[in-house]
Amino acid sequence: MTQTMNYEIKDINLADLGKQRITWAAKEMPVLLKIRERFAKEQPLKGFRMVACAHVTTETANLAITLKAGGIDCALIASNPLSTQDDVAACLVRDYGISVYAMKGESTDTYIRHVNIALDTKPQIIMDDGSDVVATLLKERPNQIKDIIGTTEETTTGIVRLKAMEKDGVLTFPAIAVNDSQTKHLFDNRYGTGQSTLDGIIRATNILLAGKNLVIVGYGWCGKGTALRARGMGADVIITEVDPVRALEARLEGFRVMTMDEAAAVGDIFVTVTGNRHVIDRKHFEVMKDGAIVCNSGHFDLELNLEALTEMSNSKSSVRPFAEEYKRNPQKTKVQGSIIVLGEGRLINLAAAEGHPSAVMDMSFANQALATEYLIKNRGKLANKIQTLPAELDKEIAELKLQSMGIKIDELTSEMLEYMNSWTVGT
Ligand SMILES: NC(=O)c1ccc[n+]([C@@H]2O[C@H](COP(=O)([O-])OP(=O)(O)OC[C@H]3O[C@@H](n4cnc5c(N)ncnc54)[C@H](O)[C@@H]3O)[C@@H](O)[C@H]2O)c1
Repeated sequence: MTQTMNYEIKDINLADLGKQRITWAAKEMPVLLKIRERFAKEQPLKGFRMVACAHVTTETANLAITLKAGGIDCALIASNPLSTQDDVAACLVRDYGISVYAMKGESTDTYIRHVNIALDTKPQIIMDDGSDVVATLLKERPNQIKDIIGTTEETTTGIVRLKAMEKDGVLTFPAIAVNDSQTKHLFDNRYGTGQSTLDGIIRATNILLAGKNLVIVGYGWCGKGTALRARGMGADVIITEVDPVRALEARLEGFRVMTMDEAAAVGDIFVTVTGNRHVIDRKHFEVMKDGAIVCNSGHFDLELNLEALTEMSNSKSSVRPFAEEYKRNPQKTKVQGSIIVLGEGRLINLAAAEGHPSAVMDMSFANQALATEYLIKNRGKLANKIQTLPAELDKEIAELKLQSMGIKIDELTSEMLEYMNSWTVGT
């Protein structure tokens, strides 16, 4: 472990590999690079300090480099103990002078310590992923709240927590819900989580998806993307939901829909993407087939009740990297045999694979960069509540992405515009 006053990473000697991979990712991030070019010229973030809490991946590195190009002083911490790419962290420290506090496999205590070290830098902007930094600030550092210009939140679960803060009247600065931008959740959660979740399952197990009953718990944006891609690989996809509209959507999309109680006994592979707690619970582990594979791609590691599984098992052992076999105690379960848990129940796409492909993070992180600039530009003028990035900026990101793909689209003619804006012309 390399440790000094302003970073804490696994090994600085990994920086060369990190540099190569960050450069590779940048090729798929043209929108962010365009923003970086402008930031470098205009320096819109100069003189400010921020904490960025994110999965420390090649894509996040490109965002951090962009923010630094805009002039901000940034401390980067991991948003998940298993998602840090140590070579990337090393490169950011060595080649870009960014303070990184993140190591793959760090303990919860270390994670909390890193949140506090980052908050010690007295940030004015918090870029959060799951709202842990904001929650720590509100609970433990009331004196620092007045310094905060605003926060940006990356994921669905973080926004759920921000809404709870708003309801309790404790959110006293503006919060940009980056996840709610169309150019974020429609692409990142759907196609990014969809592809990379399957990538994580395959890397951890090398199993064939074709012909397997693959149960997806939650048919939100992440669930939709995972279902779409799993079907493409020949899996028989089963959806469980609590929302009738989403359940109906899944059925009309051609997937089987059933309760978790029913699905538990028929699934070969299970993926949770709900943002909810214990959606796979003791009673489900009791009836799962011998050898059933279970993983999570929702934000926190509480979607699977692993305490119950541990309690009903005689032993737990590693069978491959990121795959642990729990041998169930026949006296405590209805079905005998083992259950394989991937990535300790943490985001499987980041634990066993590399997270979202760079091309979708290009748009998510363009939103983060523009949201940071928007908060600074409009400091003191925004309401102290959750808000989305203005629609024009969301649209601008889509336009830049299309341009980078060489795709042109049509424009409304004046005749069309006039028609769309009038009510007098009918049958
Ligand atoms: N793996 C990743 O890289 C990644 C990326 C983006 C978002 N996320 C996380 O994934 C989770 C889902 O995000 P989303 O954008 O799809 O959210 P979403 O709100 O669009 O969808 C969640 C769905 O889960 C359903 N649900 C809730 N409880 C359930 C239960 N007990 N059984 C079945 N269904 C249930 C909800 O009805 C909803 O349809 C969140 O925690 C989010 O933060 C992960």
